[in-house]
Amino acid sequence: MKAWQKTFILIYGLVSIALLIVNAAAQSRDRRVEAIRNYRTWAKGNDKPLYLEPSVGARCAGPLPEDLKPNPHVPRYFTVYVNETGRKAFFAKDDATFPSGSVIVKEKYPAIRRAHGAYSAPDFSATPELLTVMIKHDPGYDKANGDWEFFACDGNGNPMRGSVKHCQACHQRTASPTHVFRYYVPSPTSQSLRAFANLLSQI
Ligand code: HEC
Repeated sequence: MKAWQKTFILIYGLVSIALLIVNAAAQSRDRRVEAIRNYRTWAKGNDKPLYLEPSVGARCAGPLPEDLKPNPHVPRYFTVYVNETGRKAFFAKDDATFPSGSVIVKEKYPAIRRAHGAYSAPDFSATPELLTVMIKHDPGYDKANGDWEFFACDGNGNPMRGSVKHCQACHQRTASPTHVFRYYVPSPTSQSLRAFANLLSQI
């Protein structure tokens, strides 16, 4: 085989592999976008947007600089949405296993700026600046993390790249096999309230 033929085969092979990788990444992105499409029509975990503890807000966050070092003068609020598959386990009185296909989205948004530097609580129509998402997969996907996939998205639902180790580590601190905090639901369990209080005293 001539040298130019070898070079051609090599380049062809490398380009094909690169395309396969790009394609796989795009598919995983599309799958995530699809999983949270229309999430605002799902059940809400809280009956009004709730004040987000700044220490939690800076951590239950994506890789953007503003997420990691949020402007401390602007209060943030959150709302959690759960899809139909996860609804029963999410509102259960005790820890219940979330079925595969459950999806939970937490929205973060800033308070509304009023005159003279005052702020007031936003309503559910507020524009999110960040979404943090958990998707439940089949048993064996990631046992140590309750088989949840974690990722963050911008406010328009575009997944962001970045490590999710911090997500997994903190959600293990729910001290619950569900890995879901859900202390903010209308009737929280005493265990979920305790886990949140513990977390706040440690971060
Ligand atoms: C330092 C702890 C911490 C880290 C790190 C963290 N979270 Fe959270 N997360 C919380 C707490 C506490 C709540 C409950 C709502 C609240 O108080 O903000 C929560 C709520 C959620 C919820 C709603 C379901 C629930 O557990 O109640 C989702 C979804 C979520 N986080 C995803 C993520 C993702 C994705 C990441 C990483 C990008 C992440 N979290 C990182 C503490 C954390």
